[in-house]
Formats: sequence, C-alpha cells, structure tokens
Amino acid sequence: MADEPLVLGIETSCDETGIGLVRGHTLLANTIASSMDEHARFGGVVPEVASRAHLEAMTPTVEAALAAAGVRLSDVDAVAVTAGPGLAGALLVGVAAAKSYALGLGVPLYGVNHLAAHVAVDQLEHGPLPKPCVALLVSGGHSSLLLVPDVAQDVISLGSTVDDAAGEAFDKVARVLGLPFPGGPHIDRAAREGSGTAVTFPRGKIDDGTLDFSFSGLKTAVARWVEARQAAGETIHVPDVAASFQEAVVDVLTRKALAACKKYDVHDLLIGGGVAANSRLRALAQERCDAAGVRLRVPRPGLCTDNGAMVAALGSNLVAAGITPSMLDIPADSSLPITTVHV
Ligand code: KG4
Ligand code: ZN
Repeated sequence: MADEPLVLGIETSCDETGIGLVRGHTLLANTIASSMDEHARFGGVVPEVASRAHLEAMTPTVEAALAAAGVRLSDVDAVAVTAGPGLAGALLVGVAAAKSYALGLGVPLYGVNHLAAHVAVDQLEHGPLPKPCVALLVSGGHSSLLLVPDVAQDVISLGSTVDDAAGEAFDKVARVLGLPFPGGPHIDRAAREGSGTAVTFPRGKIDDGTLDFSFSGLKTAVARWVEARQAAGETIHVPDVAASFQEAVVDVLTRKALAACKKYDVHDLLIGGGVAANSRLRALAQERCDAAGVRLRVPRPGLCTDNGAMVAALGSNLVAAGITPSMLDIPADSSLPITTVHV
C-alpha cells in the first residue's frame, strides 16, 4: 500500500552495516555491508575494526538500499535504529547516522531494541505476529527465550544463556575441529556426513527447571574429548564430532523452547538469529512443534542474521501503534534490557 509510511532501518550492533527499507510490512530493500572478512583472521569480531567499517560503509549502504528500493531519501517517513544491545562503538555509529538522517529529513526517529527487531522481522515474510508468541533468539551474541505479547511494546525475558551464546559455542567448537570462522555453517555442513549419536556430549541445564541455557560446559567437553583422542594418537572423525555437538545444542534449544510454550500456553514459536539457519535446528524444531501442536515460524536465513530490514520492520510497528518517537539525544546502550523495546 503506497500510503503506508516508508521506514528506513539502520543496524550496526555488531559487524554488519544493515540498511533496510520497509513500507508498512512490505520489504523494499535489505542491503548489508559486512566487515566479517576483516575479523576472520582474528577468530572473532574486533570492536574497533567493526566501528571503523560501519563509518565507512554507512553512506554507500544507505545509497545502495535506496537504489534497490527505487525510492529517494526524501521519501523516507521515519528512521529506526538499533539503540542496543550490542558493541558500544558500533552502535554509536548507527545511532549518530540515524539522528542525522531524521534531523535532516525532519522525520521521527525510533531507537529500538535489537532483540525485539529479530522478532519483528518475521512479519516481512509470514505476516502479522500471533499475539502472544514465544521467540527463541540464537546468534553469535545472544541466546534468549522471550514471551512476546506485543512486539511494539511488550517483550518479556523467560530465559537466556548464563555463559556462551549458542553461535559462540558453534564458533569455538569449529575452531577446535580446525574449521574456519564463523564456524556455524561449517559445522552444519560437516554434521550432514556424521552421526548425532556418535558421542554423547552433555546437555547443559537440560533438567534444571529453568528456561536458561549454558553452552560453556559443552564446548569444554568437546575440546577435552578431542584433546584426549589426539593425545592417544587417534584420528578424529570431524563429521561425527560436529553432528554430536550440534545435536546437544539443538536438543537443549528445542526442548527449552517447547517447555516455554507449554508453561505459558502459547501455540506459536518463532526462531530467529544466525543459528536459526542451522538445518538440524530447523528440522528438530519442526518435528517437536508438530508433536506438541505448536506452529513454527522461522524467517529465511537472510532475515535471521543481523540486518536493517528487521529494524525497519519494528519501526513500522511503532509508527502503526502511535508510539511517541525517540528524542534526538538518545544514547547507544550496549546493555539495553530486552524489556525496553524502544527508547
Ligand atoms: O545473527 P548473527 O548473524 O550475528 C550475531 O551474532 O548477532 O549470527 C551469527 C552466528 C555465528 O555464531 C554463526 O556461526 C552462527 O550464527 N551460524 C550458524 C549457522 N549459520 C550461522 N550456526 C549454526 N548453524 C548454521 N547453519
Ligand atoms: Zn542479532
């Protein structure tokens, strides 16, 4: 619908400079410049390198998104930006850019929560969100279970990781197995040639009655297992170790997600974040949701990983709900709590 507001979304919480253009909940452009190549040799994202890359990528990426959407900057009706959580310096670049665009264009600014944006993005692919839904967000930076009565104003944390994020565990185990960074996709691929029951690795916090996660013990268990075999001069069958590790992660994630649905009597589960691209997670989640009578929504991988469209999508919800825009002096908050959907 042409008369719905055109929202520009800006995402810079980690290594992706993501620019999205959304009209209502129709996706017009989702343009990303990633600095991952610059981080790969360090085996993790270097915050200062990411901030500098955002600064260099911002204007060209906005221009590329406008061209892809076939609109002009002056057509933009509102600007949404990730205000947190994330890397402080990286967030600052996006927030400063968003303020400048909003001020220059004379349009409202909406500072939004990165995690709520991961939930909101699914509307671009699967339509309006069921109210309420449970969301499992799993990426390199976060592992959270959320109860979402209304993504525009009310997101409740049910549980989160007490140590490593799920994606972080994939990345660290990949390193132990000699696979490149970021390791998630490589483990996913290797695991297809292996058996998930070859080694029984620990399932952290599986029966502790909480909706929290822990992946640090699992990561250590895999490292110890590999070291012991190598010390004994044995050859490691990487696909079996990858599949067995992956099985431990997705078993815990799906069990806890469905426990949350049951506890809160919710029949819609949404999975987002980079790890949602994992083929075994998608398959096991579907299997367990079918058995429990829960509907599963997983956005396509390009919308699961960090991007600007998710920020624009949440911005659209805020505009539609008549939420008061943010002040032009909002800070970037690296530890913004999930209960703060917008600032
Ligand atoms: O959401 P994202 O792009 O960035 C943030 O961390 O916020 O997620 C990146 C994470 C990395 O840890 C990466 O290894 C993991 O998502 N990942 C995967 C897969 N694709 C990406 N993990 C498991 N299986 C995959 N197929
Ligand atoms: Zn993210």
